[in-house]
Amino acid sequence: MPRATRPRTVAHLVLSAGAVSAALGLSACSVKERDADQIAGKQAFVQKCGSCHILNRAGTKGVTGPNLDAAFGPSLDDGLGRGGVRGVVRKQIDFPSQRGSTGTGTMPADLAEGSEADDIASYVAAVVSKKGEDQGLLGSAVEKAGGGEPYVAEGGTLTIVADPGGGLIYTADAASAEAGALKVVMENDSGVPHNVVIDQKGETDVIEQGTTDFTADFSPDTYAFYCSVTGHREAGMEGTLTVK
Ligand code: HEC
Repeated sequence: MPRATRPRTVAHLVLSAGAVSAALGLSACSVKERDADQIAGKQAFVQKCGSCHILNRAGTKGVTGPNLDAAFGPSLDDGLGRGGVRGVVRKQIDFPSQRGSTGTGTMPADLAEGSEADDIASYVAAVVSKKGEDQGLLGSAVEKAGGGEPYVAEGGTLTIVADPGGGLIYTADAASAEAGALKVVMENDSGVPHNVVIDQKGETDVIEQGTTDFTADFSPDTYAFYCSVTGHREAGMEGTLTVK
């Protein structure tokens, strides 16, 4: 998706919409940085925004929308300032389609509002385009998913769980099962669309909430399982199933 990979200058976009002063005004007046809770903002960002946006510090890897580090880098260099970024992000949450999308994806409205939207904007503004990792409380605000106990099939059913926190990852990256007929179930409570695919064997539906499954015969071997939603496998949503 060219839109996701081509960095764009936010300041330019905002200017072309004639909204730069509005964005800056917003950041100065209605969003007071000291009131905004960046820890809550980070958690909300990972859950509600990360499936579509890369933000290095938040560890998110979605590619449906623009890479925010790349998108804001040039504008920061041009002097937009972090207060300006906060205003742009806050405005984007309130009016996602305002600038008109020419790309393949669109950003949903009503993802967050009020103080939650302020928190998200405050966090994004504080960390966007910064190298390294969040430190201290901010560093531990979001659990790293994916390192959970391997899945073990029971009674011919293997359940693979999408990260409930909205990360592009399953809760574990390894699974085991006995040879024979196997029902592969995906559990997804994240609200982010996911599936489970095993090449040559089958795939579940793509769902945002609930469970979905397929059944196939497996002989002893190792198989990759992954999510085929664009960008999700690349972001790390995959694992290995060992059939004995
Ligand atoms: C379902 C996918 C999706 C989700 C979820 C999503 N976005 Fe977006 N976002 C997009 C797309 C697509 C665009 C580009 C649309 C446009 O510019 O018209 C975009 C654009 C943006 C931009 C403008 C970047 C630029 O280069 O102009 C910002 C900032 C942004 N999103 C922040 C957020 C925040 C904060 C959240 C969470 C509250 C969020 N997004 C959730 C898909 C998403």
